Order: sequence, then structure tokens, then C-alpha cells
Amino acid sequence: MRKINERFAVICGNALKREFDHELGENHGSAGRNPERPRRPDLRRDPRDEDQDGISGERNRVWDPETQDMATGRFGWKAEEPTILAQAAAAFAGDLGVTTTLAPNDDCTEYQTACQEALSGGDPEFEDDLLTRIAVYSLAVAVPVRRGWEEENLLRGKWLFNDAGCTGCHTPSHTTGVEAPISEFEDLRIWPYTDLLLHDMGPDLADGRPSYAADGNEWRTPPLWGLGLVPDVNGHDNLLHDGRARGFAEAILWHGGEAEQSMLAFRAMEASDRDDLVAFLESL
Ligand code: HEC
Repeated sequence: MRKINERFAVICGNALKREFDHELGENHGSAGRNPERPRRPDLRRDPRDEDQDGISGERNRVWDPETQDMATGRFGWKAEEPTILAQAAAAFAGDLGVTTTLAPNDDCTEYQTACQEALSGGDPEFEDDLLTRIAVYSLAVAVPVRRGWEEENLLRGKWLFNDAGCTGCHTPSHTTGVEAPISEFEDLRIWPYTDLLLHDMGPDLADGRPSYAADGNEWRTPPLWGLGLVPDVNGHDNLLHDGRARGFAEAILWHGGEAEQSMLAFRAMEASDRDDLVAFLESL
């Protein structure tokens, strides 16, 4: 297994820090179908582990630049964005250096003169209408259809996924809200395999960088739908927030903290059972 090893001589500010940040683009799947039920807005959480399963999922509470208020975080590796629109604006600003009304400031530090002197494309550089279109497109991208789901080894893999406790965080299904932004997505049963909550994943996955309520060890359970097609779409099978895992087995073996029991259960399986579990993940 490999781990990204980085050292900073000097950290000048957020912008530079971000350049060294190995976060991969995340898999929204069809984020429009996320479990957002306005009349039942609370994600099922268990911050004090009252059911004593060793897993204590917690929501992130984050700033929503659109409503100018705090909201539940649902997107991003640490659930640091409340909506797809905010996520898109943050990605334009942080990843591309393009300003929008929701993220109006270039974050060049005083040391980054080239960044400060670069041409500006306007103020903001990207119009609201274009940002909204990108957000609506991202909301509406379809989830891939599952492949081979009735094959016996995949059904066994699904059973093993349950048995190893993966569903403690990768909650298989939810029902969407009754007032979704796109009416076709209202009141739908969806299968994203996430609880959208933060979990302590142990020191090996920690990045030491808190984000709102998420501390350095905590990550949001990523959705697993569509991940089986990552190699076809991206031409690689790098997984986890910094892409260190090559394929599903390595991703599972990095699980620690609240997920350690699950990881140990996977490690203790017969090789053929591990293959079936991975085949199930590949079918999502
Ligand atoms: C305690 C909660 C928890 C449990 C239990 C858990 N996971 Fe995860 N899983 C996570 C979190 C959080 C991440 C993201 C970690 C990161 O990126 O550093 C993750 C990441 C993953 C990924 C990589 C996803 C991606 O987009 O890169 C896969 C695959 C995965 N888990 C499968 C499993 C399987 C299979 C099991 C059972 C053996 C399992 N998980 C058990 C919380 C959990």
C-alpha cells in the first residue's frame, strides 16, 4: 500500500496549502438525489454511539454562502459544503481560481505575486447564470445502472458487505425529500451507500486539517454508487480522499478508527469472500 508523503518548508497561506492538497475530485454520483427531505432534514446520526456499535456518525455544520447562514454539510470529503451550488462555487475558486458571487475573492497570498498579477476575467469572473447551469447539470447527472447484480458471487458479496458492518456508515438506501430542487427527484428511493456523516477514520487517514466540526481524523462517508466505473471513466482506480488506494481492497485496508472492526472483518475473510465483496463494489 502507498501513502502520499509530503513535507512543507513554509506554509504561506491557504492558497499554497491548497496546492499541496492531494484531494481527488469527489464522486457526487447524482447528487441531486441525495437524501435531502426538507420535512425530515436530520440525517440519522448517533454522535455519542448510543447503539454501542463503535460508530458515532456526526453531521458537519457549515456556512452556506447562498443563504448566508449555517447549514448541514453534505458534499466534499469533510462534508464542508451544504449544496451542490456551494460546492461548485468552492471548486471554481479553490481548484480553478475563478471567482463567482458565492466565492468572490481570489485567495492569492501576499507571496504569490504571479497569482496577484494574473489577468482577471471580471468581477466576478463567472456569472451566476453559468454557475447555476453547472450546478443543475451536476444535480441531474444520472447514476450508472448496476451491472450483473443478480449474479451469485455479487449477491454473496452484498451479504458480506452487510456482515462486515460496512453498512454502519455506507447506508445502502435513503428516500429523497418531498421538496427536491428538481421535481423528478422527489420522494425517490435511492441507493448511494452513504450516511453523509463524519467518522473518525483513525490516524493513518488523518490529514490534521479540521473543517468546521470535522477534525483532522474525520471524513464524510463517501457514496459508493458509481465507483465501479471509476477505472472506465478516469483511467485509474485511485480511491480515498488523497487517491492513495489502488482499488477497493486497498481502500478497505486503510479503514481505521470507527471502521477498524469492519476492516479487520474484511482482512480475516477467505480470499474468495474478499473477491466477492470487491465484485459487489465493482457492480455499484
Ligand atoms: C465508520 C464508518 C465506515 C465503515 C464502517 C466503513 N467505511 Fe468505507 N469509508 C468511510 C469513510 C469516512 C471513507 C472515506 C475515507 C477517506 O477518504 O479517507 C470511506 C471510504 C471507502 C471507500 C473509498 C471510496 C472513495 O470514494 O474513495 C470504499 C470503497 C469503502 N469505504 C468501502 C467500505 C467497505 C467495503 C466497508 C466494510 C468492509 C467499509 N467501507 C466500512 C467510512 C466507513
